[in-house]
Amino acid sequence: MDDIQYNRIVGAKADSALQAALEQLALPFMLVGHRAITPGDGSALLPTEAPAWNGAAERVRQSSGAARIVVRELLARLGHSSCPVPKAAGGAPAWPEGIIGSLAHDQRFAVATVARRADSHSIGIDIEPAESLPADLLDIVATPAERIRIGADLLMGRALFVIKEAVYKAVYPLDRTFLEHHDVVVDLDRRVAEVRNGRPVNFRYCLTPRVLAIAFVTGSC
Ligand SMILES: CC(C)(COP(=O)(O)OP(=O)(O)OC[C@H]1O[C@@H](n2cnc3c(N)ncnc32)[C@H](O)[C@@H]1OP(=O)(O)O)[C@@H](O)C(=O)NCCC(=O)NCCS
Repeated sequence: MDDIQYNRIVGAKADSALQAALEQLALPFMLVGHRAITPGDGSALLPTEAPAWNGAAERVRQSSGAARIVVRELLARLGHSSCPVPKAAGGAPAWPEGIIGSLAHDQRFAVATVARRADSHSIGIDIEPAESLPADLLDIVATPAERIRIGADLLMGRALFVIKEAVYKAVYPLDRTFLEHHDVVVDLDRRVAEVRNGRPVNFRYCLTPRVLAIAFVTGSC
């Protein structure tokens, strides 16, 4: 399948408000894309990728296949056509030499971002529907200080959840450390999170049309 066909497929499954939101969040060095998850997308998993989904539910294969359709379109723009992006240790995607990236899926959409490693150490992305976080999860997700900052706003609770997952995806390839939600402390005003090991991670987020976050690590590694 050539790049033009890939673009057509991504375009046919596109949501202009979501793409606009992603482009507003992205820094100039990041490419971003999305796709509505569609029956049959599981077949986009390449032979070198597919074994990681052996035994997985069809819906899971669809989501990961949709994400890889997006990723391959973005990677083609960086000169890596038809490139496999298998799962590496710990679940993180394995990117081609010189590339960093991240992907995520919710019930409807797959999203991805990629960049050249020369421009950032690592990036992470997450997406969730624009719905309140269940109140019983708030204490698990938010530190006491974060709870004071967001008050009773459970949509902001969802945003904290999404920001922390994006931060986790950005730092895991660097630190290889499992993190709980309270291991990532979010400063919503400065748009920087601090990880348990002291690593600062910048992020951007939005609440509509989905709750989205992109996290990125710059500076010394
Ligand atoms: C990585 C994780 C956050 C993904 O969240 P999710 O809601 O299951 O799924 P998402 O759709 O948001 O993201 C899935 C993608 O994340 C990526 N991913 C999975 N593990 C990863 C890791 N360790 N590092 C970076 N990216 C990872 C993969 O690309 C995956 O897509 P794929 O299966 O199609 O390859 C979750 O699986 C996890 O491991 N959580 C434990 C740590 C955590 O959440 N701590 C609290 C926040 S600090």
